[in-house]
Amino acid sequence: MDNHNRAESQSWDPFAGVAPDREAALSQYRDRAPIYDLELRIFDPIRRRAINRLWLRRGSTVIDVACGTGLSFERLRKQVGSKGHVIGIDQSAEMLARARERVERNGWSNFTLIQSPIESAEISVAADAALFHFTHDVMRTRDAVCNVIRSLRPGARVVATGLKWAPPWAMPVNMAVFYAAMRSVSTFEGLARPWSLLEPLLADFSLEERQARSVYIASGRVDRVALDS
Ligand SMILES: C[S@@+](CC[C@H](N)C(=O)[O-])C[C@H]1O[C@@H](n2cnc3c(N)ncnc32)[C@H](O)[C@@H]1O
Repeated sequence: MDNHNRAESQSWDPFAGVAPDREAALSQYRDRAPIYDLELRIFDPIRRRAINRLWLRRGSTVIDVACGTGLSFERLRKQVGSKGHVIGIDQSAEMLARARERVERNGWSNFTLIQSPIESAEISVAADAALFHFTHDVMRTRDAVCNVIRSLRPGARVVATGLKWAPPWAMPVNMAVFYAAMRSVSTFEGLARPWSLLEPLLADFSLEERQARSVYIASGRVDRVALDS
């Protein structure tokens, strides 16, 4: 048994085998797009922390995976500067329309926005970093995770963050996770260890748990050999 399978077998998951449902996700975010920015404000400190962990430099190219309305754009742009490049990808037309408005409103010329499922997105650069911010459905779709990793240069930084189940004894916390996840994900599969498909593809993997262990920040750098094996 390899490390990945061993870790999977350690956490029993009543939702095992329930894959993300694209139509459900599209409908979820069609309804949620107008109020999304307001709802996500509470996670702003996590977003800041996650973006800092990307260790971006001026001139870097970063992929904002399932970028939604572009809430990370301003910080990403600040870090890569006007010579850098931000690629935002999302499958939801309604969320991406807001991301596009944000880019136009700010007159940012170094953004590329792609409307596509991550698993089939054509990403034609070797990017320096990728951010998966509150993208549980993507994190639980192996083809999507691999498509992003393949589009990164070897050694590129990857940071993933989002909701997770707190320990079982933290019932009130898990009620809050349940409520938030109901509105954000199309499967609860893997919510105990959402990073489990990504972890085997990264070197120097590190994991931080915050908000009473109901939010994770996973990070590492691309290990090409792991992807090819
Ligand atoms: C909770 S929002 C996060 C948005 C953004 N990353 C943020 O931090 O605010 C989840 C986003 O994932 C997108 N999404 C879900 N599954 C996807 C997939 N397979 N491919 C592309 N986008 C997806 C949804 O459309 C939605 O915009």
